[in-house]
Amino acid sequence: MEETVTPQVLHVATEMAPLSKVGGLGDVVGSLPKALRALGVDARVLTPAWPGVLDRLRDNGAPLLRSRERIHVALRWQVFSARLWRSEWDGTPLFLLDNEELFGDAIYPDTLTPDSALPFAFLSFAALEVARRPGWDATILHGHDWPAALVSVGLQWHRHYRSHRNAFETVLTIHNLAHQGILSPLVLDEWGLDRRSFSMEGLEYYGQLNALKGGIITADAVTTVSPSYSWEIQKPDGGMGLDGVLTAERQKLSGILNGLDLDVWNPARDESLPANFDTSDLRGKTKCRQALLKLLGWEDDGRPIACFIGRIVEQKGIDLLLPSLESLVATGARLVFLGSGFAPFEKALRERAARFPHDLAAHIGFSEDLARLLYGGSDILLMPSLFEPCGLSQLIALRYGTVPVVRATGGLADTIIDVDGAPDGYGFLFSDYDPEELITAFRRAVTLYKDRKRWTAIQRQGMAKDFSWKASAQIYLRLYKKLLGLD
Ligand code: GLC
Repeated sequence: MEETVTPQVLHVATEMAPLSKVGGLGDVVGSLPKALRALGVDARVLTPAWPGVLDRLRDNGAPLLRSRERIHVALRWQVFSARLWRSEWDGTPLFLLDNEELFGDAIYPDTLTPDSALPFAFLSFAALEVARRPGWDATILHGHDWPAALVSVGLQWHRHYRSHRNAFETVLTIHNLAHQGILSPLVLDEWGLDRRSFSMEGLEYYGQLNALKGGIITADAVTTVSPSYSWEIQKPDGGMGLDGVLTAERQKLSGILNGLDLDVWNPARDESLPANFDTSDLRGKTKCRQALLKLLGWEDDGRPIACFIGRIVEQKGIDLLLPSLESLVATGARLVFLGSGFAPFEKALRERAARFPHDLAAHIGFSEDLARLLYGGSDILLMPSLFEPCGLSQLIALRYGTVPVVRATGGLADTIIDVDGAPDGYGFLFSDYDPEELITAFRRAVTLYKDRKRWTAIQRQGMAKDFSWKASAQIYLRLYKKLLGLD
């Protein structure tokens, strides 16, 4: 009988939802390995035990086993070591690095310095130690974003780890090109990297060291989280300074759309909603809407409720929204914001909400329950991103019968079809990053909302779309097999 070889894949990441999460990267690492396992891939995750992570595992009754050996990595002429815990989440085996000095704070530092970057260097190099545990040998190391980009950099240029070069194939997934890990070249010596790697063809970037650039050059395959984004980042206006490198490496670059974990996001089963619903019966959504209105202290005056759920930062189109708020309300809608981010944007939103208490609400901070109620109870999702590698909010909104109004960029362009562009459309798109375009698209939605029959049909179209991991996990599997020479 022919032996079937299973890719053994170690995902290396700073976040894994729901154990730890700052953004969409956490959601992906919390759901992709599980989808890969369903296809027979032996996918596991290596991530830091940030404060609260081990407790969360314990509270959920997950197995928690402390390994006898510690993981040692030499950095800054000193050996750092971490306890290694093994656990499991939703069927996915986990390796957790436990060192309070390195992983005792917020996941990402406010400013990146050689000191504040140590946890990420440790995580990347620890992957090269963990991947060769007795009993389990990874064949693929799959790093996510710049904090894990040093995995392949280490295999190429680290004075010790380069001898393991041939033991692994490496994949780097870029979730957001805006974060590159730009550091002083002093870290080369501190981290044990060959100085010859500091060239234009290597880690050097305008006199600094660029970790993501190093990862792009040294990984065997580079992926981004949507096909459109993979093209956009090869152009000067989307490449954030790395378009040249990405274009040069384009033969190993591909865009694979993120999926949604349908068990986690399912309006028919979501226990945090006041009522459940599905495509065949939307009455529960009306109940969610009433509960949302009550929470906001708003009477139902028939106007649609549009929500924004996400980080309050430039990427998400906040500086397009801020000057448009009054005009958006004037189309005949109410707006609710949920998220946190850049303090001046948060302040501006709070001020506007205080000035228009019947039309605008802003909840600065994050609450999973409120997010779910907003997805369930709102009519429209606003997502006018400046750029969007993939975006998960629009996928969740679709599933919860909340119709997206989005800018056609990156993953938004790949997932939303305009109602005016196709008979089976289920969203509203605009192209230019311009308040007038946003307002026009939003007005189209608000006008159509009055046609209840048509609106319900649009909601149903969106709810019926399959944005699960099913198709995308297959594409990752194909990539792994190609790298391992198994196809
Ligand atoms: C980042 C991107 C977002 C993407 C997510 C997961 O947060 O900004 O667009 O969906 O990563 O890949």
